[in-house]
Amino acid sequence: MIAPSILSANFLTLGNEIEMLNNSSADYIHLDVMDGVFVPNITFGQPIIKQISSIAKKPLDTHLMIVQPERYIDEFADAGSKIITVHYEACTHLHRIIQQIKKNNILAGVSVNPHTPVYLLESIIYEVDLVLIMSVNPGFGGQSFISFSYEKIKQLADLRHKKSLQFLIELDGGVTIENAQLLYDAGVDILVAGNAVFGAKDPTAAITLIRNSKNNR
Ligand code: DX5
Ligand code: ZN
Repeated sequence: MIAPSILSANFLTLGNEIEMLNNSSADYIHLDVMDGVFVPNITFGQPIIKQISSIAKKPLDTHLMIVQPERYIDEFADAGSKIITVHYEACTHLHRIIQQIKKNNILAGVSVNPHTPVYLLESIIYEVDLVLIMSVNPGFGGQSFISFSYEKIKQLADLRHKKSLQFLIELDGGVTIENAQLLYDAGVDILVAGNAVFGAKDPTAAITLIRNSKNNR
């Protein structure tokens, strides 16, 4: 699956960008919420997500790069998110926060920064619907893929297999048409792509190319 990130979209014509995604083979719309504290950048919040939700035909995948996400989770759910992912590094009481997300009857995800080892998730993977591996340091679109992420995907896929769990594996940062196939092969279920989609001449075609790269061998 593919979840295009609107971080690299043209916000002056955001409605058109969402329409493009509605008519594409995108599986989700990835929304990067940044607070300028957890990450060195600020993006958008609940009011904009609410507006996106009013026209989006694909489920909204909200990636919270914010401290104390428990303060806003219910609002992000009410705004129309179908997945909410919080950062392992931003949550002192991660277990409680995951339950808070699930109480809203949506999917709960946990994300790890590039420096955070996958084994630290061993006690929480029983509770989550999704694990998001960051393959760049979060904060900006268009950064280069950190290659150790392949190792982390494989470790996580192994862990999932060993424990007979079902959570989805999502990967975010530096995804390109070139590396998509290797990433799916390593065990990724959902690829997030910002620059590779919105920086392409034909974003709709780029979405389909990335999404189908698993079968293009
Ligand atoms: C980065 C965000 C990503 C970003 C990915 O902090 O979480 O979702 O949009 O952008 P690309 O695909 O351009 O690396
Ligand atoms: Zn993201």
